[in-house]
Parts: sequence; C-alpha cells; structure tokens
Amino acid sequence: MCFTASVHPRLVSTMNIFGALLLASTVGGRSISRSNGLAGIVEGKTKLTFDGAGNFKVVSFSDMHTGERWGNGSWADWGPANDAATQNVHATVLDNEKPNYVVFNGDMMTGENVFASNATNYLDIVFAPTVARSIPFSCTHGNHDNADNINHQIEIEYEQANYASLSYTRSDAGPQPYGGGNYWVPVYAKSTDTVPAAIMWFFDSRSFVSGTGNGPGPIPDAANFYWVDENTVPQYIAAQRTLMEQQWSKVPPALVFVHIPVQKAQILAPLPSEGDHDDEPDPSTQGFLNNDYTGLDLPFWNEIIALNGGSDGGNVLAITSGHDHGESWCARSTDSSGIPICFNGHSGYGGYVTTHSAMRNGRVFELNLADLQGTVPVVRTWNSYENSTTNDEVVLGPDYMAQFN
Ligand SMILES: *[C@@H]1O[C@H](CO)[C@@H](O)[C@H](O)[C@H]1NC(C)=O
Ligand SMILES: *[C@@H]1O[C@H](CO)[C@@H](O)[C@H](O)[C@H]1NC(C)=O
Ligand SMILES: *[C@@H]1O[C@H](CO)[C@@H](O)[C@H](O)[C@H]1NC(C)=O
Repeated sequence: MCFTASVHPRLVSTMNIFGALLLASTVGGRSISRSNGLAGIVEGKTKLTFDGAGNFKVVSFSDMHTGERWGNGSWADWGPANDAATQNVHATVLDNEKPNYVVFNGDMMTGENVFASNATNYLDIVFAPTVARSIPFSCTHGNHDNADNINHQIEIEYEQANYASLSYTRSDAGPQPYGGGNYWVPVYAKSTDTVPAAIMWFFDSRSFVSGTGNGPGPIPDAANFYWVDENTVPQYIAAQRTLMEQQWSKVPPALVFVHIPVQKAQILAPLPSEGDHDDEPDPSTQGFLNNDYTGLDLPFWNEIIALNGGSDGGNVLAITSGHDHGESWCARSTDSSGIPICFNGHSGYGGYVTTHSAMRNGRVFELNLADLQGTVPVVRTWNSYENSTTNDEVVLGPDYMAQFN
C-alpha cells in the first residue's frame, strides 16, 4: 500500500495504520469500528441505517438566515418573527416528510448581523424543530456563516459540543476557521453491515460577509474565497475514495451537499427543468473573485467527477446547493458530466425572497436500497413546501434529461 505525494499531509498519520486489520462490530446500533483512515467511520457514533422498507429519507433545508434583527439595516425589526416563521416551516416539512436525516445546507444565520456574545444561539433556533423530533442531522456552512462575529469553525465546535448525540457534522480537512467543514457520513443497509450502502458528502464553499452594524470590517485575506479550498479538499476526497476502494472494494453511491453551487450550475440553468429559476440568467456560483471566473473551483469539481466514477458514471446521485434562494430545480447534461446538480430553494424567512420562492420549502431525497443497487443508482427527489404540498418530483439517474446527456 503506498501513498503518493499528493496525499494531504494531515491524513498521513491516520493512513499509516491502514495495513492493520479492519475491526468492526456493532452493539445496540453503536458502531465501534476501527476506522483505518476512513474519516467517516466515527467510533461511538450511532450508525445511520435504512428503514425496514429499505428507505432512507433526507430533508435538506437551506438559507435560514436567522438573527437578522441585530443588524441596523431596514430588516432590523422583523428578525425574531422571521426566525419563528422559519421554525414553523421546518416543523411542518418534518412532520409531513418524517425524514431519517436533516441537512442544513448553509447560511444558518445572517452572520453579519449577530453579536459575538450569543451568535451560536441562532444555531439553537435553527436546530430546534429537528432536535425536538430526535432526527439526526448535519450542516454545511455558507458565506453568511463567516462574518465578523461568527465563523464556520465556531459553528462546528458549538454544534459538536452541544448536539453530540444527534449531530454528525465534522471538520476533516480544509482551512480553518473559514473553510474546514468538509466530511462524509455513511448510511448502512442494516446496523450489522460494515460497508455503507450510501454516503453523504458535505463540503465547505467558504466566503465571508462583513458586518453591517456589529463590527463591520474588511474581509480577512484568509476568507476571501468563493469556492471549496483547492489546496486541501480535492486531496482529502481522493484519499478517502482510495481507502473506500481498498477496504470496501467500491465507492458507495453519494449525495453531495455544498452551500454555494458549482459553476456548472450556470450552464445548466437555461435548460428546461421543474422548479424555480428566479436568480437567472446568472445564478451565483463558485469560482468567482471580484466578478472574474478563476477556475479554482475545478479541482473540487474534478474530484466530484471521480466520485461519480468518471463522466456518466452515475455514482453521484446529486450535488445540491442553496445560496441562490430563487433556484429550486435539478438538471444534468454533458456539461455537468451527467451529474445531477440540484438547488434547495430556501426554508428561511430571513434573507432575500424572489417572485416564485415566497412559499418556503425543503428539498427531499428518498434513497431506496433497490434503487441504489441497480446497474446505475437512482434517487427520487422533490420539493416539500410549508403549505403542505409537494412539487417538482423527479427520479435522478440516467433517464433524467437523457436528451441532454
Ligand atoms: C442576543 O443578545 C441580545 C442582547 O444583546 C438579545 O436581545 C437577543 O435576544 C439574543 N439573541 C438570542 C438568539 O439569544
Ligand atoms: C450601521 O452601523 C454602522 C457601524 O456602526 C454605521 O456606520 C452605520 O451608519 C449604521 N447604519 C445605519 C442605517 O444605522
Ligand atoms: C403551495 O405552494 C406551492 C409552491 O408555491 C404552490 O405551487 C401551490 O399552489 C400551493 N398550494 C396550495 C394549496 O396553497
């Protein structure tokens, strides 16, 4: 077993034990696996499993933008009412969908408007309806979660310290404190399995928003990026993928979550797809610095293609983003190497709202074991709204938008 110089230095020490025997067993659903470098196999964490009917349902919420009262802008007065309304959206969607897992896909708060003394209280507000229903969850982090009085690392450490039993959020790779929320979480067909049936990957697209009233300052150099870190995260993905191939003889089908969409989303946006298209013609995406496209999001994107099993490999079921509140579609084409790119819409009453996105929503993914074990895996997805309706249901896989692939 040999690792090349491209392996991220932080991973090397854990990989040295790779030659050791893989020890794994389960007691009462608690995994006590030895990870052998597989960062998502976390000792003492309850294993996530498909239900008796072979389903595992994920609801993703994005762009909650809590905490807006404490800015001194025009929104100053209605923040707390908005936050209560956001909680109602989550409660309604969770009761209607009854998911096995919840993903908060970034911009949990409007960080430029919060105070350092209690910024993390806004995470409590965001998590409360999910915690009240005892649903496991994790987060990606958005550009508004990096601000003068809050950053991704503070949010991650607070979540780990206060929600240890339900939260699966980690920081495996990436620059601290503004871009370290990169990790994966396994989902098993049954709790005695050692090889997952699916993986959920979470990535940190960084960026920073300066304060408007509680300590406005310049953007720190270390935060002035609008894409997943190209120096550490691609290496992390490649190393983890290699370990999966070696230890499991496969890379399980994947759902991918990252707050700011990949740039290929702009190319797919004009294609006919169900869902909102309000932030077009140019939905904001990764890779831009001062309005110039840098291409520095591509090292990350190329590792997503590798996870997919190459162009048209079909192993990445969807890469889903928030950030553009007025986009809620899924599309795929040769421009995205056949990988479905999906948008969340938005569940928050904070932040901006567009013509068609006033009815807040979550995006649902229903993983099914039989669907995952076909020649090419597929996943069913739809939007679930606060008015208790659903819409835009599609099955993502080789048949979806086949005419563009
Ligand atoms: C944060 O602190 C302010 C007072 O400084 C308080 O009015 C506000 O309610 C607090 N927010 C939360 C979410 O606890
Ligand atoms: C908001 O706060 C900043 C910094 O304290 C101040 O410069 C600005 O004038 C304030 N804006 C309003 C609308 O009050
Ligand atoms: C619920 O909201 C959706 C999304 O805006 C809309 O398409 C639908 O017509 C609404 N249905 C009802 C019954 O209000």
